[in-house]
Amino acid sequence: MSLAVYPGSFDPITYGHLDVVRRAARVFDRLVMAVLVNPRKAPLLPAAERVAAIREAIAGELPDLAPHIEIATFDGLTVDFCRQLGASHLVRGLRAVSDFEAELQMAHMNTALAPGVDTVFFMTAVEYAFLSSALVREIARFGGDVSAFVPAAVAARLGWPADGGSRP
Ligand code: PNS
Repeated sequence: MSLAVYPGSFDPITYGHLDVVRRAARVFDRLVMAVLVNPRKAPLLPAAERVAAIREAIAGELPDLAPHIEIATFDGLTVDFCRQLGASHLVRGLRAVSDFEAELQMAHMNTALAPGVDTVFFMTAVEYAFLSSALVREIARFGGDVSAFVPAAVAARLGWPADGGSRP
């Protein structure tokens, strides 16, 4: 049974991440979304809320794939988490050439640390090529409407309920 880990901050999960999840869950029997808990960074959403939002987003948007997807938190090295689970692959998304250099460096470093864990990349759909959690965080911090960029479970947590209600 093939097992892959999709690590990230997911602060918050966006439609771009969900697109990668959808593709990866069709390739691997089990996909574990690994949410990094980084005590050195102040997140927009605490780890428990990021996990809850991911769970709700998958249940709402990818219900058929939900049985193949697990969500976990981790701290420390991604490759250690992969080895702990016995994962053979690590999944990352690529939006544009600008992502490539940092992702290539990270993939090579992870391979050097754990040769048994191979990194695979999925190209994020072109309609999400401009999307990033960092931009969503910035828009949210200034009170902007993020509902076009993130699943309803995230938008609601940021004060933009899907029923068109006004911001609290
Ligand atoms: O969503 P992000 O912030 O782009 O995800 C980055 C992440 C979590 C995959 C990366 O920072 C990571 O793997 N952090 C864990 C620590 C680690 O393994 N560092 C070495 C990477 S070569």
